[in-house]
Amino acid sequence: MDAAEFRRRGKEMVDFVADYLENIEHRRVYPDVEPGYLRSMIPSEAPLEPESYEDVLKDVDRVIMPGITHWQSPHFHAYFPSASSYPALLADMLCGGLGCIGFTWAASPACTELETVMLDWLGKMLQLPEDFLAGTKGQGGGVIQGTASEATLMALLAARCKAVKCVHESDPQRSEADIISKLIAYTSEEAHSSVERAGLIGGVGIRMVATDEHFSVRAETLEKMVAEDKAAGFIPFFFCATLGTTPSCAFDKITELGPLCNAENIWMHIDAAYAGSSFICPEFRPLLDGVEFADSFNFNPHKWLLVNFDCSAMWVKKRTDLIGAFKLDPVYLKYDNQESGMFRSLKLWFVFRMYGQSGLQAYIRKHVELAKVFETMVKKDKRFEICAEVVLGLVCFRLKGSDELNEALLKEMTHLGRIHLVPCKLRGRFVLRFAVCGRTTELRHVQEAWTHITELSSELLLKKRNEA
Ligand SMILES: Cc1ncc(COP(=O)(O)O)c(C=O)c1O
Repeated sequence: MDAAEFRRRGKEMVDFVADYLENIEHRRVYPDVEPGYLRSMIPSEAPLEPESYEDVLKDVDRVIMPGITHWQSPHFHAYFPSASSYPALLADMLCGGLGCIGFTWAASPACTELETVMLDWLGKMLQLPEDFLAGTKGQGGGVIQGTASEATLMALLAARCKAVKCVHESDPQRSEADIISKLIAYTSEEAHSSVERAGLIGGVGIRMVATDEHFSVRAETLEKMVAEDKAAGFIPFFFCATLGTTPSCAFDKITELGPLCNAENIWMHIDAAYAGSSFICPEFRPLLDGVEFADSFNFNPHKWLLVNFDCSAMWVKKRTDLIGAFKLDPVYLKYDNQESGMFRSLKLWFVFRMYGQSGLQAYIRKHVELAKVFETMVKKDKRFEICAEVVLGLVCFRLKGSDELNEALLKEMTHLGRIHLVPCKLRGRFVLRFAVCGRTTELRHVQEAWTHITELSSELLLKKRNEA
């Protein structure tokens, strides 16, 4: 493909994407294919000779589209949102065109510099304490990671390095292996599975902290576990708090957990993968109170801030903790300024400038309002119950009755493919999660979703009564 054809195909692709997004609500949101459907539709080996662009594009329709779950559909209510916006799509295209990799400042100065400044902009939008901002001479700062899972792993490894150094200073005879074997990390029983996985990768023990009636970790519970572990000769070193848990969007009490972690020399990382975006609204910012006690904080603009995947924003109070833990100095990377940044920051820059803080706040508020509307409709129907407090854009609910009944309801919904939800377990019970996800989700979509759910429920309950 030469530049002339790229110009033509590029314009066609923009039309293809715009048509797709404009008409997405008429598609079945959840695909109707079986596992392994794709392998038989394409050759078992890559072509030896070049094929035409037309043939490739035809296969996008024939092979790919049938197996797509339409995350950008206004009927998509599963997981948490996967952000998408036209400014971010265009920035991604530019990023691909520039094709640079900013692994050091010299590798592409604008990559590093824009990332640092964008994370300062974003940090200020969230009203993060000054300590987290790089400014021109601060010790803290932000870095873009691919995912929240990576950020948690980075934080845990940096904390591990710091803990080993600290113990070694007071007890130089002790081997690194012995210290690591005694390290213990903590997180909520409601935390995302990536936290436990970070513990596995980091080769440290990890303990799950029980939550209160709001699914929040409280300091009292963590304090007891830390005391027990210390008495047994272990070294508590890391606590991952969650603001906006995956199952029910619950918030650990970081205002009381933070002082405990600080007093015990435990690194507190905050995972606010989904909820973090909402902190740009002054009315939701109190949910972040206590961040001043944290060593690191992370959330995903690629979830709820209109920035396409991948873009996970992570801040640390001391950049040296992170850089020091992973520093290697091969000669080909040697340069006075070793800080790095990939060009994911371009997406942030485009989105911040084209939506403005007011546009982004309006977008968050709309999702929260739609979730409240859904909650009100659930509460009005006595056959249903709300299972967790609705704080942001997620509603956890279920039909009063057995898990089997709710499982059957979800199975039927998924089979019909008009709306897409996923479940969670709360205190062992099977619960449905309704997340407001789409950039184009309107009141009518939420109302239609509820009508669909109630109709399916009526059929299910009638069938059950007839069988009894
Ligand atoms: C609280 C929380 N943490 C972490 C994650 C994982 O995010 P990522 O896919 O960016 O690793 C999720 C995903 O929903 C989440 O809800």
